[in-house]
Amino acid sequence: MTVDHVSKSFGDNHVLRDFSLTLGRGENVVVLGKSGSGKSVLIKCIIGLLPYDEGTITVLGQDVASLDHAAMDQLRARVGFLFQSNALYDSMTVRENLLFPLRRHWLEHSAGEEDDMVRQALEDVGLANTANMMPVELSGGMRKRIALARTLILRPEIILYDEPTTGLDPITAREIDQLIREVQHKYNTSSLIISHDMNCVRLTADRVALLVDGRCYAEGTYAELEQRDDPKIHEFFA
Ligand SMILES: Nc1ncnc2c1ncn2[C@@H]1O[C@H](COP(=O)(O)OP(=O)(O)O)[C@@H](O)[C@H]1O
Ligand SMILES: [Mg+2]
Repeated sequence: MTVDHVSKSFGDNHVLRDFSLTLGRGENVVVLGKSGSGKSVLIKCIIGLLPYDEGTITVLGQDVASLDHAAMDQLRARVGFLFQSNALYDSMTVRENLLFPLRRHWLEHSAGEEDDMVRQALEDVGLANTANMMPVELSGGMRKRIALARTLILRPEIILYDEPTTGLDPITAREIDQLIREVQHKYNTSSLIISHDMNCVRLTADRVALLVDGRCYAEGTYAELEQRDDPKIHEFFA
């Protein structure tokens, strides 16, 4: 996946200014930026939920801006998106939530296959035996895991995580970080994680891109950036 010189404004609010980033196969890249810096805007541009003004975004070899509705839909079946809010359907059981992406993408499976897929996805996130529960019965951390399981059921090649640990207590947050790593290794997925939780950044990132003033201000491993003697970078690690 590449984001190449992308700009995005809302009126006079220039959120992304010539932002560039690459995500290699099997790699976890964290985009680190302050609140309101444009992290969610970036992820929405990547997944085609927001149009951008300039530049090119290529996802799994396809130029996002050139895709029609049907092609975008097909691409979205290969790219998982974990909303900050989880976006689970409260009126549906966990099982129905997990099967929703299959229905949405018209992927037909026998009842037995569906059972196996739900079981596998729930095992992957450490929540076997929750299939018949309702989202309201689950804790914040469990809801995050279910949202991830719903993403995993389509076996995505890329997963986009919007602030996966925000709003979780520290222990639960570290469990989610660990889960992000487990998923990366088990399925060889590439992930773009946006966060301002420095523990999450340290534990999940192979590489960190710093989003400052709409640009990719600096890039490197957590350890490399932590040692840089630049006030704008240091601010994040202080
Ligand atoms: N749909 C929209 N219309 C207008 N402005 C928006 C929209 N979405 C985001 N913005 C603005 O873009 C900026 C970046 O927002 P966002 O990407 O949500 O920040 P964050 O880094 O916290 O995720 C903010 O100033 C926000 O007000
Ligand atoms: Mg956001």
